[in-house]
Amino acid sequence: MSDAQVVAAQPRSQYVEFWNNILVPKFVRWRHILVGGLTLHSQRIFPSLQVNKGDKVVDAGCGFGDTAIELARLVGPSGSVLAVDCCEGFLEYGRRDARAAGVSNVSFLEADVQTYPFRPAHDFCFSRFGTQFFENPVAGLRNMRTCLKPGGIMTMVVWRGVKDNPWLGHAKEIVLQYLPAPGENAQTCGPGPFSMADTGVVTKQLEIAGYSDIAFEQVDAQVFVGNDLDDAVAFQLAIGPAGEVYREAGKLAEERHDKIANALKTALAKYQRPNGVIMDSSSWKVTAKNPG
Ligand SMILES: C[S@@+](CC[C@H](N)C(=O)[O-])C[C@H]1O[C@@H](n2cnc3c(N)ncnc32)[C@H](O)[C@@H]1O
Repeated sequence: MSDAQVVAAQPRSQYVEFWNNILVPKFVRWRHILVGGLTLHSQRIFPSLQVNKGDKVVDAGCGFGDTAIELARLVGPSGSVLAVDCCEGFLEYGRRDARAAGVSNVSFLEADVQTYPFRPAHDFCFSRFGTQFFENPVAGLRNMRTCLKPGGIMTMVVWRGVKDNPWLGHAKEIVLQYLPAPGENAQTCGPGPFSMADTGVVTKQLEIAGYSDIAFEQVDAQVFVGNDLDDAVAFQLAIGPAGEVYREAGKLAEERHDKIANALKTALAKYQRPNGVIMDSSSWKVTAKNPG
């Protein structure tokens, strides 16, 4: 079976459906923040990644592919990057950007990272904010481990708690003053951005998934959340925890839109800088080894 046939044979989970149907269009609309804004964060992380020239790398949940292209540059022409995401709508951008940048040692594959039958041929497996959305984190992390040679390294970047990430949490607090919290049956993209914030839980997940040498490093950085206040308010109402509250409230949210937007604008004003709206964020850089 070819890679494409293997992928086509797998049924999509409800979360993968949600990413494709609901989030891809939103992420494309807000690409300038999700790529440009988060790059400020990963600039702190990339210089310390354990990646060498010639390495074979997997980027799991690569989204628009900007980290995969950066990894392809780091490993150089004697290495390669397999960039995997469950949304073809993101991968198109990765292929186009890699071509435009003249980077030819990266390939983009549509697949569910939790179940794709990887070959154990890679030195390094990376994921920036992808693993937090796995339906079954242990199964997903274990499957990522199967892409590694014995001794290969996995590094994932996951958000710390909501209180450490005002760029996601502050807007939610404001929106909840006007709208009800999402109900139990709310449609979601998976466990969510803060699901791997607890180092004790994640350590256990990684141990059960078969990793050794587990280490956490706190990374504090600023992220860009809008060109100006209107851009930042619209971003918050579309994506992330505030966006989820707004989306789930449906008609009520539309009716109260102006009040909510004004309150958010007032709250975010203190983060406005000459180059845009900039807020604090904090993540864990989690590193673990495949003992083989
Ligand atoms: C928050 S985005 C991060 C994207 C990118 N890594 C970045 O840092 O910009 C999470 C990504 O994980 C992908 N994703 C979520 N669950 C996945 C799964 N089970 N298999 C493959 N990709 C998945 C989503 O499609 C999305 O592109």
